[in-house]
Amino acid sequence: MARFPIQEARLKGLRPMSMLDLSRVAAIERRIYDFPWTEGNFRDSLNAGHEGWLLEAVDMPGKLKAYALLMWIVDEVHLLNLSVSDDEQGRGLGRRLLDWLMRHCFEEGAQSMLLEVRPSNQAALRLYAAFGFEQVSTRKGYYPARGGGREDAWVLRCQLGLEEP
Ligand SMILES: CC(C)(COP(=O)(O)OP(=O)(O)OC[C@H]1O[C@@H](n2cnc3c(N)ncnc32)[C@H](O)[C@@H]1OP(=O)(O)O)[C@@H](O)C(=O)NCCC(=O)NCCS
Repeated sequence: MARFPIQEARLKGLRPMSMLDLSRVAAIERRIYDFPWTEGNFRDSLNAGHEGWLLEAVDMPGKLKAYALLMWIVDEVHLLNLSVSDDEQGRGLGRRLLDWLMRHCFEEGAQSMLLEVRPSNQAALRLYAAFGFEQVSTRKGYYPARGGGREDAWVLRCQLGLEEP
């Protein structure tokens, strides 16, 4: 069962992602991933109806701090992308955005959230574990890896809902 440790119903600077944001999103993406999504990948995702969210600096409009993409499959949400800009990492933004996303999905009727993560991504694994995500399967060789190899994806899932007090 999900834990919502922050219980933050509102996040300042949060707004839906639009096509106009994508060049700046892709610029962050290139800085933080070895194998980034392209601007075209994000465009395709929004065109496919996926839900994009952005956290923008309140005091500096246009400066993006974090973003996420959600794909709804009936009552399960696939967290396709969760990213914090390189200069904003380690300050609690990832935790706050994930908290908001899980709460939002729960309130919109989702029963569970699913995602893929590299087993080498210790920061992300710790974050997801803190929210109650558990590994449900492995996709062998799912990701490209440095040196031309492949890396597995761990599929993590979390039942959404408030824990009994
Ligand atoms: C993973 C990511 C989303 C976390 O967001 P963040 O804002 O940097 O993390 P937070 O400051 O909110 O920290 C939340 C928790 O994440 C984990 N974490 C964050 N940075 C970490 C690091 N460098 N090493 C280990 N754990 C880390 C910790 O569990 C931390 O909780 P704690 O501070 O109580 O220990 C962010 O670092 C990021 O965008 N990384 C690059 C892209 C990526 O890997 N996205 C996830 C793909 S599945």
